[in-house]
Amino acid sequence: MKVIISKLVLSVFLVCVCSSMVFSQNSKDQGNFVMVIHGGAGTILKSQMTPEREKAYKETLTQALQTGYDKLKKGESSLNAIEATVRIMEDSPLFNAGKGAVFTNEGKNELDAAIMDGKTLMAGSVAGVTTIKNPITAARAVMEKSEHVMMVGSGAEKFARESGVEIVDPKYFWTKSRWDALQAIKKEDSTKTELDHGNKKSMKLGVENRDHKFGTVGAVALDLNGNLAAATSTGGMTNKKYGRVGDAPLIGIGTYANKNVGISCTGWGEFFIRNVVAYDVAALMEYKGLSVNDAAEEVVMKKVPALGGDGGLIALDKKGNVSMPFNTAGMYRGTVTKDGRIEVFIYKD
Ligand code: GLY
Repeated sequence: MKVIISKLVLSVFLVCVCSSMVFSQNSKDQGNFVMVIHGGAGTILKSQMTPEREKAYKETLTQALQTGYDKLKKGESSLNAIEATVRIMEDSPLFNAGKGAVFTNEGKNELDAAIMDGKTLMAGSVAGVTTIKNPITAARAVMEKSEHVMMVGSGAEKFARESGVEIVDPKYFWTKSRWDALQAIKKEDSTKTELDHGNKKSMKLGVENRDHKFGTVGAVALDLNGNLAAATSTGGMTNKKYGRVGDAPLIGIGTYANKNVGISCTGWGEFFIRNVVAYDVAALMEYKGLSVNDAAEEVVMKKVPALGGDGGLIALDKKGNVSMPFNTAGMYRGTVTKDGRIEVFIYKD
């Protein structure tokens, strides 16, 4: 009898030890959380930046990262974190998304956004919306409250309203700096048209026009459960034609997440679309075994410029490795890690 009891005690002891080892291994694997964000890439040179403006960008990027961090730390999902983080940037006039969206050729603000859950491959996006205060929230509503992935224009707005997403008067998006930028590019265009004798090369804008399409915002997060999610929101490019949609709301192009990696892009949308950028990064990792950094660099530093495009992206893998390549002078970007350390960057170094 004594022998049986001793064996039972030993078995219970071993089961306890083994379970605690498995638990501690799982919590070690699942205990990491990271967030990476961008606020657009472009000809962002220190020589052209005022200290006040630099401070404002850094403060808003920090606030956006802190908002996502607080949610991740509490154990909330990567989806909750990236939505809240992108909303901070959408509410700021500094970035080309939400409040700070650029103007179309017709003088409107047409906004695009997308969100994707890497765990389920569920995704939602909206494009060409003019009355949704936070398009990222509307994109999430499409993902979670409809059977569709993408909704555009007035239909997306009707769905957003019915889903309880905040609607604003289009005038909410009017900002002087964006309006002045539209007037400037129109002036440049008319000069160019005269110089080209009416032979406008819209895909070959000069360097002076290139930054009229940047400023998109995005976030990618890895949560405590090891799930990745990605989000992107933009006003597109200044002076874009009626109905033009860029890469940001297109799943697999400006935004993508799966179990291995999450990606959000910023740059000249037409070139990102033609290079299927976000999915290409994920595919290089999955099929060729490239690291997140090698895959992201391959696409941003080689494939996109080879076609003549420019921009950057943020990518985060399931182990918490971050890559933030860009082939422009600068990119507003930042990271926050589990220890709460926030880092924000603007220029190349
Ligand atoms: N990357 C944003 C756009 O081209 O619309």
